[in-house]
Amino acid sequence: MSSKSANRFSRRGFLQASALGAGIGLSSSAQAADDAIEWPEFIGEINPWASTTDRKIRIGVVGGGFGVAWHWHEHPNCIVEAVSDLIPERRERLVVKYECAKSYESLEKLVLDPAIEAVALFTPAPDHARQMILCMEHGKHVISACPACMTLEEAQEMVRVQKKTGMKYMTAETSAFRWETMTARRLFERGFFGEMVYAEAEYYHPGIGAATHELSVKNSERTWRYGFPPTLYPTHCTSFLVRVTGERLTSVSCIGTANPDEPAFKDNAYDNPFQNAMMLFETDKGHPFRCNVAWDIHGDGERAQWFGRSAALYAPGSGGQPLSLKLPGKTVTQIPDFWPLLPEKMRYDSGHGGSHAFLTNEFVMALVEDREPALNLAEGLAYCVPGIVAHQSALKQGERMAVPQYI
Ligand SMILES: NC(=O)c1ccc[n+]([C@@H]2O[C@H](COP(=O)([O-])OP(=O)(O)OC[C@H]3O[C@@H](n4cnc5c(N)ncnc54)[C@H](O)[C@@H]3O)[C@@H](O)[C@H]2O)c1
Repeated sequence: MSSKSANRFSRRGFLQASALGAGIGLSSSAQAADDAIEWPEFIGEINPWASTTDRKIRIGVVGGGFGVAWHWHEHPNCIVEAVSDLIPERRERLVVKYECAKSYESLEKLVLDPAIEAVALFTPAPDHARQMILCMEHGKHVISACPACMTLEEAQEMVRVQKKTGMKYMTAETSAFRWETMTARRLFERGFFGEMVYAEAEYYHPGIGAATHELSVKNSERTWRYGFPPTLYPTHCTSFLVRVTGERLTSVSCIGTANPDEPAFKDNAYDNPFQNAMMLFETDKGHPFRCNVAWDIHGDGERAQWFGRSAALYAPGSGGQPLSLKLPGKTVTQIPDFWPLLPEKMRYDSGHGGSHAFLTNEFVMALVEDREPALNLAEGLAYCVPGIVAHQSALKQGERMAVPQYI
């Protein structure tokens, strides 16, 4: 079968991929609107993954919560050398998941292991910058869960340490490798959107951060999620545009709100009064971009919609919005099948629209090919720094503020 015909969507492939992207089923009206297209013409070829080298990266995986949902042990160019979590049961989960007998009681011990070349950090958000710096100072490359950092000072320090050590960094931002984002990026690169005039993105996670939420308090102690500022978790939204067009967000005005009856947003480790944040950014190309991050709202999920002058793409959402690609004269309700881009063993959805497998592959391949990862430090900071400034804007009742660019 030619790759062209392989990429043409069958009804079955369309259903599988669309349901994967949405995390929801499709309505019959969405299916009725389906208008098949020859994908390579619009997004280029989807060439099957092929080995480029026998080199294998020895990685240490840290954090046995979100950290167990990855594919390190399945990648032909990766060996899980060791794992770590402060909590023994979570350490054991990592040992079992990655079939790796070597474990350490902490990251601080793991970084002393000379066999480890790279560290995957799935630790609490406020620790990422400090731990990335620790790893790099020990000569390890780093991939960390989002966000890359929490303050402008941390951003500056990460840039300094990376320059000094020459280690590679990647942010494991799942929205950047959702299939709708991959589709939008390829469509944009090939000019199908024309100018990307405007985009909207949202990340809704009801209840998180609240005093009664199961992730906010554990063993009667507050976790890092208790009262967490939504503005400091903007990356599931910001990456939807930055990854697609390469624009940088240069200024922001943000309005923050909270339920007045919610105690976690009156007293928390961040002095954060906001449970919801609606951010309006301007990009370096002069385009507006609206991002909502909300914990106190009756809606959920991560999605975007991209509006170009000649095409629009609507990601599916929990409110019932089906996937819809509006091209001149036609509406397409499918996204292409991107699985062939991965090693065979990794071609299954382990969460967040199938993105974990693609992020795993990108980091491993960047290291073995000795190139910058697609989501490098510049990209990681372009996702999270705008939210840090948005928080300051919200504290000043929406004052429009400039976003510093570090790289
Ligand atoms: N879609 C996404 O991208 C997505 C989804 C979920 C979580 N996350 C991110 O992943 C990260 C982890 O999330 P989580 O829900 O698993 O958090 P968590 O707090 O449940 O787990 C973090 C783990 O890190 C361990 N840890 C902390 N410091 C350590 C150290 N020095 N050495 C060894 N282990 C250490 C803790 O013991 C804990 O088990 C967070 O940054 C979160 O923002 C991202």
